[in-house]
Amino acid sequence: MSHIACVDLFCGAGGLTHGLILEGVPVVAGIDVDEACRYPFEANNRARFIKKDVTNVTPAELRKLYGDAEVRILAGCAPCQPFSTYSQRYDTLTSPRWPLLYQFARLVKSVRPDIVTMENVPLVEKHAVFDDFVATLQRLGYKVWRDVVDCTQYGLPQTRRRMVILASAIGSIELISPTHKKPLAVKDAIGNLSPIEAGSAHDDDALHASSKLSDLNMERIRASRPGGTWRDWPKHLIAECHRRETGHTYPGVYGRMTWDDPAPTITTQFYGFGNGRFGHPEQDRAISLREGAILQGFPRRYAFVSDGDPVHFKALGRMIGNAVPVTLGKIIGRSIVRHLGTEATTEGGTADDSRKPLVA
Ligand SMILES: C[S@@+](CC[C@H](N)C(=O)[O-])C[C@H]1O[C@@H](n2cnc3c(N)ncnc32)[C@H](O)[C@@H]1O
Repeated sequence: MSHIACVDLFCGAGGLTHGLILEGVPVVAGIDVDEACRYPFEANNRARFIKKDVTNVTPAELRKLYGDAEVRILAGCAPCQPFSTYSQRYDTLTSPRWPLLYQFARLVKSVRPDIVTMENVPLVEKHAVFDDFVATLQRLGYKVWRDVVDCTQYGLPQTRRRMVILASAIGSIELISPTHKKPLAVKDAIGNLSPIEAGSAHDDDALHASSKLSDLNMERIRASRPGGTWRDWPKHLIAECHRRETGHTYPGVYGRMTWDDPAPTITTQFYGFGNGRFGHPEQDRAISLREGAILQGFPRRYAFVSDGDPVHFKALGRMIGNAVPVTLGKIIGRSIVRHLGTEATTEGGTADDSRKPLVA
């Protein structure tokens, strides 16, 4: 196969990068502003971490990272900005929530990678910046595939829907077909991890650590059944805000997962019992950081902190919850490898040779 090089913008702890690498797409570098991501990114991937605001990345820098690669891939998952209720309701046209997607587009316009891939929450589709991004790709001559992907159809044991874009200057590209008819369940993913208690960590794995529970929350989780809600609890355990009418809007908090179903969407706060249906199916605790990472498709031994370094729930929860599931990264990688294989064998094919000088 040709000499391929991929750069991952907003690389985080490396969920997307890891999936791509496992499928044979060489990632040469990841770029992210968060220094805490350097360790997991570099410890698990033979790729360089560059701490930098993507806004300040120049086309020349990006070209240098690609070196003499024949196929240049630009991947990225631009984060959305924090939002107020007001902006959430009214910003669908002007899209202040994804300004960094314009930075992604800026680099595509100048560098013209052969393949571009982007992952994001489905909501991004409602924002003008998304249409602008797709229109830019099309104007530049890319063939664009885009859809909301149900990750359970690809072997992720978690309910997670994501917008995925695959764009190629070489020819038509699309995501491979679903690989799993029957979704994997929580038990398949974390059923064999050693039991631990709330507020403690396993001796052999500092990431297999579960957050502390207050006495009240311990009583609540004991009263919770898998798949149930706080409505199952005796009255005295129900929070005042739940007892009032408004409570009906939060049935999803304080729940236990079910062994036989996929996990709920892993958020950046999945380690807190009160933050969603993040209770362990049978142990009286929230799922551990390691369990969250596995439900996001990370391999069991993916290193997030150096041996002996402190484990910060908030920072690691953000890194893990924000990641592109490794499983989805693999599916994107497999789709790219198939595309390159197909295009290489369809001599001339749909490739637009006028674009080739753009490849270093
Ligand atoms: C959704 S996460 C990316 C997850 C990553 N793709 C993965 O699979 O693990 C978004 C990342 O963008 C980073 N970020 C936010 N603003 C940035 C900026 N201006 N330049 C570079 N990185 C930025 C955050 O630190 C965060 O790690």
